[in-house]
Amino acid sequence: MLIALFPGDGIGPEIVDQAKRVLDALAIDGLTYDHGLVGGAAYKAVGHPLPPETLDLAKKANAILFGAVGDPDCDALERHLRPEQAILGLRKELGLFSNLRPAKVFPELAGESALKPEVAGAIDLLIVRETNGDVYFGEKGFRTTADGQREGYDVMSYNEGEVRRIAHAGFQAARARRGKLCSVDKANVLETSQLWRDVVIEVSADYPDVALNHMYVDNAAMQLVRNPGQFDVIVTGNLFGDILSDQASMCVGSIGMLASATLNGSGQGLYEPIHGSAPDIAGTGKANPLATVLSAAMLLRYSLGMADQADRIERAVAKALANGARSPDLGGTMTTVEMGDAVLAALD
Ligand code: IPM
Ligand code: MG
Repeated sequence: MLIALFPGDGIGPEIVDQAKRVLDALAIDGLTYDHGLVGGAAYKAVGHPLPPETLDLAKKANAILFGAVGDPDCDALERHLRPEQAILGLRKELGLFSNLRPAKVFPELAGESALKPEVAGAIDLLIVRETNGDVYFGEKGFRTTADGQREGYDVMSYNEGEVRRIAHAGFQAARARRGKLCSVDKANVLETSQLWRDVVIEVSADYPDVALNHMYVDNAAMQLVRNPGQFDVIVTGNLFGDILSDQASMCVGSIGMLASATLNGSGQGLYEPIHGSAPDIAGTGKANPLATVLSAAMLLRYSLGMADQADRIERAVAKALANGARSPDLGGTMTTVEMGDAVLAALD
């Protein structure tokens, strides 16, 4: 089983190092690793954020553990050379369309949430975000209007096949959890969303055991802070899912805690924390590695079929937190490496 390690930019290398230490400590037979350059780090080394060697490695790996991309030095580059193109390119080239972003409160961290602890404590949800289409991948550009103004545009679209496969992913996830699916769209304004809603309703015929409801994205954003405990699985498009998943992370306590998996139809997956490269704290030891450690657990669960080992990591993270492990984002002073140490010490 080959795991590709793509640390990327900013805090990426530091957090991936800690996740790798945890994977090593599990002493699983038959795992091999290979490193690849992505993001600004790849651009600076070889002139492209997703070099062909990296893409080749990604294609042959069973799973990818990804740190983060984003580098202020690269913000003025043409869009196709910006660090973010690495993650967008990997999602597209490998057909990684189903992005799973669980958000659950660790009891010890309920006080870190921006919400009241009793509201935050009820959060146990999963956002299933489509990541191969939408306004992210539509035609885009700059043009000049008839009256000579500069104009930017990005076309939003979904075809029914794209909606159908992510709807199935949402229903199946709900079936494996509490049986509730909330589809989030903006069907009161957008045709893309009207098609989304129609197709989700069609697919629901295959899942009579799952309770489906629909919510407009503005209302969903509001409900996520008002009463997040109402959600089990949320299925939504690329842009709405990007926004709602960052919001869910702060409801849980810290964006430093949320892991994610992005799967294609063939078991291959890319695993990454949902936070970014945090260039402002890179190299200071302040980064919380737990989202990446938890992403490694998802990797074992979803791409390698090692649920027992994934459980071990998740138990160790919970125990480390219960023992008081806290990085600065969680109100503590522990360094990135000390947080890794705490997880290692808590492994059973
Ligand atoms: C995420 C990130 C990416 C996205 C960026 C880095 C392109 O915000 O994974 O949520 O928008 O999908
Ligand atoms: Mg995002």
